[in-house]
Amino acid sequence: MTSRTSARHAVNAARRALLAGAAALALASPTRARAVRTDHAARIRHLIGQMTLDEKIGQLNQVPGGRQKALNSKIDAAQLDLVRKGAVGSYLHVAGADFLRDLQRVAVEESRLKIPLLFGIDVIHGFRTIFPVPLGMAATFDPEIVRACSRIAAIETSVSGLHWTFTPMVDIARDPRWGRIVEGAGEDPYLGSRMAEAQILGLQTEDLSGKDTVLACAKHFGAYGAASGGRDYDSADLSDRTLQEVYMPPFRAAALAGAGSFMTAFNDIAGVPTTANQALVRGQLREHWGYEGLVVSDWNAILELINHGVAETPAQAAALALKAGVDMDMAGGVYAGHLKQAVADDPSLLPYLDQAVGRVLAVKARLGLFDDPFRFGDAAREKAEIGSATHRAVAAEAARKSIVLLKNTGNLLPLTAPGRRVAVIGALADDASSALGSWRARGQVGDVRTLLSALKAQGGLTIDYQPGATPRGEDASGIPAAVAAARAADVILLVIGEDYDHSAEARSRSDITLPGVQAQLAHAVLDTGKPVVVVLMNGRPLALAEVLDRADAALETWFLGVESGPAIVDVLTGRTSPAGRLPAGLPRNAGTSPGFYAHLPSGRPADPDLSKDSARYHDVAIGPLFPFGHGLSYASFAYGDLALDRSTVAPDGAVTISLNVTNTGKVAADEVVQLYVRDPVALVARPVKELRGFVRVLLKPGETRRISFRLAAAQLALWDAGRWRIQAGRIEVMIGASSDDIRLRGAFTIAADGWGTEPPAALLTPVSVS
Ligand code: NOJ
Repeated sequence: MTSRTSARHAVNAARRALLAGAAALALASPTRARAVRTDHAARIRHLIGQMTLDEKIGQLNQVPGGRQKALNSKIDAAQLDLVRKGAVGSYLHVAGADFLRDLQRVAVEESRLKIPLLFGIDVIHGFRTIFPVPLGMAATFDPEIVRACSRIAAIETSVSGLHWTFTPMVDIARDPRWGRIVEGAGEDPYLGSRMAEAQILGLQTEDLSGKDTVLACAKHFGAYGAASGGRDYDSADLSDRTLQEVYMPPFRAAALAGAGSFMTAFNDIAGVPTTANQALVRGQLREHWGYEGLVVSDWNAILELINHGVAETPAQAAALALKAGVDMDMAGGVYAGHLKQAVADDPSLLPYLDQAVGRVLAVKARLGLFDDPFRFGDAAREKAEIGSATHRAVAAEAARKSIVLLKNTGNLLPLTAPGRRVAVIGALADDASSALGSWRARGQVGDVRTLLSALKAQGGLTIDYQPGATPRGEDASGIPAAVAAARAADVILLVIGEDYDHSAEARSRSDITLPGVQAQLAHAVLDTGKPVVVVLMNGRPLALAEVLDRADAALETWFLGVESGPAIVDVLTGRTSPAGRLPAGLPRNAGTSPGFYAHLPSGRPADPDLSKDSARYHDVAIGPLFPFGHGLSYASFAYGDLALDRSTVAPDGAVTISLNVTNTGKVAADEVVQLYVRDPVALVARPVKELRGFVRVLLKPGETRRISFRLAAAQLALWDAGRWRIQAGRIEVMIGASSDDIRLRGAFTIAADGWGTEPPAALLTPVSVS
């Protein structure tokens, strides 16, 4: 076996492990999927043969049927005429089983070729049942619950007549100033890859033609998360190695998990906008990775190639995007308005056009729309199932699992003593809208159970609520009443952070401390000297060292969705022991951004001794306030008995790394066991630590479980001038409860050089628990 084929075997093994878990959710066999696909090819060729140039271009045209917060609002008589002419391939920002059935009927009954429309929407963390924001979902470190939530999102989306969601956002985000960090899985490519797979398998299952599935969209392909200075839409200028090792893995994992579509990023990499990047889209994604799905531009991004300065006219922009491999134009109208001219100017574009049309049609066929264009949308189920109690129960579990206990001095939490007087301070405690996060599809504010309402419903506690200040306003007049309530209380819940609109698209911030007068409120409350539990709500890691250093306990609760309040109360009262982990470190201040745990070592590693010249800032302590992977528990855990099943591994081989973890505490609790690796001497400097495995495991008091990670040598490969090089030599293994809390260390040796085929972080490390 060559090292190349053996690396391929490692990929297949990882994919098998991934799909084995998915089997329970699969609704059709792979054999059936293959048969359907063959049938599609002939049908699509036949259709393309019949299409006029205008009809072909129409298939590539995605039109906004409404606005994000006013779905369907733009579908008027003129739009219906366009549909009749075959000038629209897809609508976004539409919804509703009955509404979409009527719209589809126009396409399949009144247009010449009767090609069904494709309906898309942003269902980022739930359709009506809103789950925690994606950053919070990543904090679960639990792909199973993420997949379960995505499955529900798919059911609610598809019964409402929709086929496609622009999810998951798999952009790695290492700069909390970037507002879109809320939409992804944080700073780490291994965690990001697992979250990408989980969402895709939940949305699509294994076979898109199954019941209640929707087409997923891995976005924003390229290096959108690497925008300079954390400014949304700004350039990414990064090394090829970082692009391949850090930003690409979740996209590769998404492709391997079967993502039916990809969206290109708005921004450029070193001057090449991804929407016009032939090397990346047509080259890497299509040719190298063999990706056959649909590629859609981001909103108006084809036209914006003119702003980037790589095209002078819309026709040039259209030609560039088409050649790069972008099949569908989202909302820009550039293909619709100018591709005909571009093709007239340059007939060599025609084969590209046919390919793009073929991919749009293939997606429609995969979704079963040619067989039954009304397959999606079920008005009765829409009424009965969306937002159902069953769906909310899963949302509640996800919310509980997302919560991270940052600190707990003197075990202030959980609040178990009965009859306590609790001052709840901060308007976020009752902000139902913020609990939904910035993307909410059909989420309703009235569905949300806030922290305040859940605390009141809980009973056994005397609650004194004082908003004190809103997250955004400059009005400090409520602070004295908040201080009075704090003084009269046994314990204070200080609920602070951001509102839903401080993070998300175009919401980058240079100052990531508390907005408004919340810092003033927080310090006034902390000055009372009463025990304070900070309950953070936010869409990004905030820089809150001054407040968090003074607080006794702190919970990171993100925006947790419809079951936000009960989940937080469960953790506060100890019904659930928290076990969420930070998917991105909390910085000490914005000036240290971007910062990430998997940094390179430097010739002069950061040294606490300021008299030494080292890789650090002089005015702030080294590292984040709370690191990647951090999260405390109401239990405690002992790690031991590390064993590797071999000391030497062939480049096409794998090592099994086993350890015991024991709950040494008094309550049942989840623990997240994390595997990190390091290649200490290599051709190029390697990160000081890289996550290569994790598992969230429930342990009763006194219970011990043996955890085994199966790590392939190919998962240590480094990007070397276009290839994945596996180097012979010693590899360090670290097992910990966070990236900064390593409990066990070991090592093995890769016996010889070799080559991998895949980004190492994209590969799943199978884990067994016995
Ligand atoms: C722009 C955003 O960048 C993208 O993530 C989203 O899917 C589209 N708008 C559609 O709303």
